[in-house]
Amino acid sequence: MDLIDVIKGRRSIRAYKPDLVPKETILKVLDAANWAPSGMNLQQWYFIVATDQVKREVADVYGRLTEEKIPRKEERTKEQEKFLKWAKTLGGAPVVIGLLTDYEDEPRRRKMHLQSVAAAFQNLLLAAYAEGLGTCWMTGPLRGEEELRSILKVPEDKELVCITPLGFPVEDEVVIPPRQDPGLNQKIKWVGFC
Ligand SMILES: Cc1cc2nc3c(=O)[nH]c(=O)nc-3n(C[C@H](O)[C@H](O)[C@H](O)COP(=O)(O)O)c2cc1C
Repeated sequence: MDLIDVIKGRRSIRAYKPDLVPKETILKVLDAANWAPSGMNLQQWYFIVATDQVKREVADVYGRLTEEKIPRKEERTKEQEKFLKWAKTLGGAPVVIGLLTDYEDEPRRRKMHLQSVAAAFQNLLLAAYAEGLGTCWMTGPLRGEEELRSILKVPEDKELVCITPLGFPVEDEVVIPPRQDPGLNQKIKWVGFC
């Protein structure tokens, strides 16, 4: 697949088939993440790959936090109900991946660390899509960060940055969200070009 097609074709997937993802495929995707550029070539990203009970516990946290934020059952819109279903099950994905970085207090180094791991995560998302898999970059569940750290057994010296479910998408439910850009040119300032 052409790289630009992969970049433009990837979507956040919120409904997954229950089919298991082969471990070799997960490794291939993580290997792509591991090839990202990193500040000072530190490559200080780490991945927690979980399934079954641990995945369900992560989904329980996100489901509960989502339910707390939306109206009572009788007052919910269809969209809110659908979002809650996604949150409570992580869309039925068989795998969840947590992205970690080394803890860093110094603001400039922290910024560098976060950019490095974000590059790795985007590689992961794109590689997964190229393998026919779905993902959804998620920071919402971090509202329950302490609980998630405990469920995923995140070491003390690591920061949990985000998570993604991983699995085969239910193709009929892939949503292509509208672009927010009013026109790419309005986001670019050309300097020194005619
Ligand atoms: C940093 C970040 C955090 C996100 N957190 C969540 C989240 O907590 N829950 C969720 O359902 N989607 C989350 N998303 C997915 C975005 O909603 C999604 O990328 C956006 O709507 C565009 O859709 P697309 O990924 O299909 O292009 C997140 C994306 C990013 C980059």
